[in-house]
Amino acid sequence: LSQSKKVPPPLASSTPKKRVNGFVNGNSSSTSGPSKLSGINGNESPSKKRKVAYMDEEEDYGERFAVNGRATLLGSETKAQKFQGLQEQRRQLPIAKGREALIREVRENDTVVLVGETGSGKTTQVPQYLLEADISSSGQIGVTQPRRVAATSLASRVADEQGVALGSRVGYAVRFNERHGPGTKIKYLTDGMLFRELLADPLLSRYSVIIIDEAHERTLNTDVLLANLKRIQKERKERATENLTNSAKGKERAREDKLPLKLIIMSATLDAEKFSRFFNNTKILYVKGRQHPVEIFHTIRSQPDYADATVRTFFQIHLDYEPGDVLIFLAGQEDIEAVQESIKTYAKQLPLGQMSVFTCPMYANLPQNMQTQVFKPTSSGVRKCILATNIAETSITIPGVRYVIDTGKHKEKRHYEYTGGGLDSLMTKDISKSSAMQRAGRAGREGPGFCFRLYTESDFRKMESTYLPEILRTNLMSSTLQLKCLGQDISSLDFMDPPDPDSVRAAYLTLRIVGALDKRNEVTQIGRMMNMFPLEPTLSRAFVAAQENGCIYEIIGIVSVLSASANLFIDPPKNREKAREARMAFQDNSGDHLTALKTLRAYEEIVTSGKSKSARRAWCEQHYVNERALSEAIDIQKQLRGICEREKLDWNASAGNAIEPVLRSLLVGLVQNTAIYREETNAYRQITSNSAMKIQIHPSSVLSGRTPRVIMYDEPIFTSKIYARGVSTIPPAMLSMLPAFQPTKEQTKK
Ligand code: CDP
Ligand code: MG
Repeated sequence: LSQSKKVPPPLASSTPKKRVNGFVNGNSSSTSGPSKLSGINGNESPSKKRKVAYMDEEEDYGERFAVNGRATLLGSETKAQKFQGLQEQRRQLPIAKGREALIREVRENDTVVLVGETGSGKTTQVPQYLLEADISSSGQIGVTQPRRVAATSLASRVADEQGVALGSRVGYAVRFNERHGPGTKIKYLTDGMLFRELLADPLLSRYSVIIIDEAHERTLNTDVLLANLKRIQKERKERATENLTNSAKGKERAREDKLPLKLIIMSATLDAEKFSRFFNNTKILYVKGRQHPVEIFHTIRSQPDYADATVRTFFQIHLDYEPGDVLIFLAGQEDIEAVQESIKTYAKQLPLGQMSVFTCPMYANLPQNMQTQVFKPTSSGVRKCILATNIAETSITIPGVRYVIDTGKHKEKRHYEYTGGGLDSLMTKDISKSSAMQRAGRAGREGPGFCFRLYTESDFRKMESTYLPEILRTNLMSSTLQLKCLGQDISSLDFMDPPDPDSVRAAYLTLRIVGALDKRNEVTQIGRMMNMFPLEPTLSRAFVAAQENGCIYEIIGIVSVLSASANLFIDPPKNREKAREARMAFQDNSGDHLTALKTLRAYEEIVTSGKSKSARRAWCEQHYVNERALSEAIDIQKQLRGICEREKLDWNASAGNAIEPVLRSLLVGLVQNTAIYREETNAYRQITSNSAMKIQIHPSSVLSGRTPRVIMYDEPIFTSKIYARGVSTIPPAMLSMLPAFQPTKEQTKK
């Protein structure tokens, strides 16, 4: 690379240059999204069926800020200037023109659907408009996001725009991390967190406005929330009228209860009709976005090694194209880390005088301290390269992007049912057309841009137009239990798309097997306890079992490591032996669960012994463990211990050196993920299912290379084979302890 400018074989220049004008003129046959949007100028309605309001009113609200300005609170001159700059940016956003129209519509309607292109200002501005117009009165404004990073980074941005400290007037709540207080007026939270809040507050009475953002993503939690919000809105309205027709005291109460509830459904794509229909044909508002032309290139041939093609394309842009940041869409965190490493390595070998490269990742579980760099403008002479998952499609707008590289891949969660069991998989899949258009659109936010698609035009045409809602392709166990605890039945709730009856049956069956529901599908004491912890049901079940088995201390540690966003062990396929030797000190013969626990304890000792940051890092590198996973685990452990204290459970209850109680507790949760070794096939076979699927122990496991008779594992993963990951061996006799499971003689024999 250092010798020649042309080292990365040209990808795009060998592609016929084809201009796709879809973003501006709507000429492209394939742009169903943005082109249609730009067609909605003035008064034309995309739907003849219903009246649609348009948001293009001019309004001067500069003065409002002079009144509300909080620059004085900030102290220093530069901070005040920064604040003014932010206000100017706010005024420039496309949505600012529709501010008054929006406020009026929200005042007049209980529910509105708001559609606008990514970056028009929906997520950051709408809650502030409502607050400034005092629509929320004494209640809170809740804004849901499908992903953690979006919730936390948006809250931080909006706190800056309001000129207040994060956690005061503007706050957030995501799993294992909350920052808000009694004075919080605008709260960004994941859809999962708001769903959990229903448990303590079934009418969500502290909120006067709820904004369901990124509704087009149709996550399971969003769908469950929409079903509940429809009901809550109705109930709160009934109460309000009741109170109003009663006494003056009733009126007072009505005000205190923040009745009724305003709902805003926001989406970046045009499929808003369905939301409107679900809410009794409620009004749809469109924000006119700003979109510059984007030139789209497809590859001539398919690129089987898309990571490699990404790196080559990046350097081709870097060497041949004008300044401007590059946004790369990849499937997941692992891809991002690998490609980032390659780009960094090659960037060091660039010829003198070249622009330098600054890489930064963006994915759902990115730790908070790494989130801000992506929004910082780069100085001249530096090209920023952002490596992101589909989070950057619509949830997060990154300024400065002129080039997009789209691998055409994302991670999709799917659930497969078997008789007597099911499997979750998280696999790399092709994206949808709608995603491809959103990705390309990110290059044209601030000026004309370029999008390099690492797939052929015919591959693009073969893509599905949109994704299936998550409720139709995912495991329903966790939601079913949560709804049961609310006294609701997933099979009879009013959903936008009702789940498949087979998936519902399977969820009920599994919940009965682990004892969360009884024979009549009523929630049991165990089920309620499971629901107290914001964990996957397999893990929360282990937690409950640990209370009986006197080993909460150990299980909390293990569960915390398993709930962290990154894998604990760094698993370099070429260096597996070396990594394994380096970790020998923590290895436990029973398998990965106790090995993880020993590693966590070893790291905790390093931390409490007051070793320096760099010494800690060196220790992690030396042992091939991921420090981020460990520090996250310590954090999660703290939170879980906090929940125990609140629930009056002794998190210190330990089994000492006995490992049997720990394995037994885990097994109760992982009962569906158990397998028995078969000599004929030299593979494992699932115990609770009839499937003849052959399972191998994953090479990263400490048990790899051994063949214990019975194993349990955290998850099956599909690559070239089906692998069990996170494996521990269990004594065959332990199987017969499982309440809902009667093993055959052959299965329990030694
Ligand atoms: O929700 P929507 O896609 O309509 O837009 P938004 O998220 O409200 O973003 C509005 C503007 O704020 C965009 O131009 C972003 O670049 C900017 N923004 C930012 O600079 N930093 C953030 N952390 C969040 C938003
Ligand atoms: Mg948004």
